Amino acid sequence: MTITPQFLDELRSRVPVSDVVGKRVKLAKKGREFSGLCPFHSEKTPSFTVNDDKAFYHCFGCSAHGDVIRFVTETEGLTFPEAVGKLAGMAGLTVPEATPQERRRAERARTLQEACEAALRFFRQRLDGPDGAAALAYLRRRGVKPETIDAFRLGWAPDGRSALKQALTGEGFSEDMLVEAGLLIRPEDGGESYDRFRGRAIFPIADRRGRVIAFGGRALGDAQPKYLNSPETPLFNKGQLLYSLDKARQAVREGPDGPDGKGGADVIVTEGYTDVIALHQAGFGGAVAPLGTALTESQIEELWRLAPEPVLCFDGDEAGRRAAGRALDRLLPRLVPGKTARFVFLPEGEDPDSFVNLSGPEAFGRLIERATSVSEALWRRVAGSQTIDSPEFALIVRKNIDETVAQMAERDTQFYYRAFFNKRLRSLIWERRDRTRKTKPVEMKSDVGPEENISNRQKALLAALINHPQLIGGYGERLVEAELFSTGLAELLTDAIDLHGQSEDMEADALKERLRSRGHDVMVENICSRTIYAVAPFADPAFDRDSVEPGFADALRQLERSLAKVELQQRLKRGLYRDDPAEYARLTEFASDIARQAAGSDEADPA
Ligand code: UTP
Ligand code: MN
Repeated sequence: MTITPQFLDELRSRVPVSDVVGKRVKLAKKGREFSGLCPFHSEKTPSFTVNDDKAFYHCFGCSAHGDVIRFVTETEGLTFPEAVGKLAGMAGLTVPEATPQERRRAERARTLQEACEAALRFFRQRLDGPDGAAALAYLRRRGVKPETIDAFRLGWAPDGRSALKQALTGEGFSEDMLVEAGLLIRPEDGGESYDRFRGRAIFPIADRRGRVIAFGGRALGDAQPKYLNSPETPLFNKGQLLYSLDKARQAVREGPDGPDGKGGADVIVTEGYTDVIALHQAGFGGAVAPLGTALTESQIEELWRLAPEPVLCFDGDEAGRRAAGRALDRLLPRLVPGKTARFVFLPEGEDPDSFVNLSGPEAFGRLIERATSVSEALWRRVAGSQTIDSPEFALIVRKNIDETVAQMAERDTQFYYRAFFNKRLRSLIWERRDRTRKTKPVEMKSDVGPEENISNRQKALLAALINHPQLIGGYGERLVEAELFSTGLAELLTDAIDLHGQSEDMEADALKERLRSRGHDVMVENICSRTIYAVAPFADPAFDRDSVEPGFADALRQLERSLAKVELQQRLKRGLYRDDPAEYARLTEFASDIARQAAGSDEADPA
């Protein structure tokens, strides 16, 4: 069909936006406009307006804006022509078909589709016939219930060269048409055409509206290939469709409200037909699969029309891991805010079909909940599984980060992914350093200089908090947020805050006792010591209670500054700023921050 601008104008003037919007949103009339709660973002007071005179809707909250056709494509997941068709139906208009050529193509498509429908009827009947018994038993053995067999319209293509051909030519379909529909194969040498699907269980493939347009056929035994699919036909474009897309669209639109209150089913992408069927049967109606090929760009776009964050499941085998890598590659250049994905990697040797049948729907639901984000999956790829134990290795990761980010097309996305990767890289370097210090204290001692210094000041701060619990209220959370401490000290700190919260008047001795009983005895002994009090008198329990705070605050500032310096040195030493102007800019800014802080506190404290 060809849609002319004139026709669209006619359509817009015949269908008031408020009629269509009003079916989804409760609208209140205000003057010439309607208003209601925006269906595109969640809100408590209405900022969504509809103006029939101007024929558009607009949300002042999230800037959603468009005409009646846009509203239908956005809220029902229809394509533009589909939305036009639907609205035309409401308005009693017929979408014009422009040229005779186009009409012919439309007619031919219709008849090809009718041929597929007729084939489907045939396959369905044969599954219930005597020679279909083995296929039925096969499906039942794989755990497919009778109602699922009906919902997916599974069938049986009998063994024999021309069972389907005879049945359909008998119904008046020409041989040419059956060949074009992919149902018959015509040999190159000009021999007799014969049935494509022979002795296989049939999985019909439907278009986005549920009309059957192609088939997949599975051998019951070990015959090769395991699956045989319809070829590309005027109706069937493998790379643009997904198996069970029609059902998934419906489940997303109408699915029951989930526990998250978002409503609709999760969109789940698997690798195979049987995975989709098993998941659907287990209550995951949003399951789809590509059609025997790797996920294509248009399939990814199709998924995003259904959900901002589809879950891609990969089988726990080598092929599954390769497929995941390819999917990441395809996703990368298309990531924009609001369009991402999550990944589920099935346990070794399993696919969603085997998993859900063995472990049950709840277990699969947990896999979905814990799915890996794209950022995490990408990080695993740029950093590998190693820890960063050399500048060389950090530089390789750095280079991987640059290459990955360069493939992203959108600036905000690039910015936030780079920031995320940089943070992960930094924490890997720091984690390593912390571990080294803990496991080899003596050996490292000569080398760590300023770090040893830091750790004594860290201990002094904690000792002061414990010996003077009145400080916990004002500084405890701030210290947690500043992330100044290594794991053991951080745990001591959070436990001290916790105990103080339970009883605010608790004295130092009682607090220490409770900390010891929570397993911090060694640590408490270690930090509440003469050595520490010697360098930080304010930490001493004997220190005058009212004068503790200034000394404490000063030590905290110094510590923050030293840590920032160490980090700066680390980054400069590792040369991480090279070839990266943004990182370099951040480093210089960081350095001047430290200089400013130092100058500021020198002024305040002439000592
Ligand atoms: P799998 O081999 O993972 O399929 O291939 P599966 O669905 O788990 O198969 P079962 O459980 O053994 O029946 C995944 C998908 O790849 C395509 C099919 O679309 C299949 O669903 N495929 C696989 C083919 O097109 N041809 C093949 O020979 C094999
Ligand atoms: Mn399988």
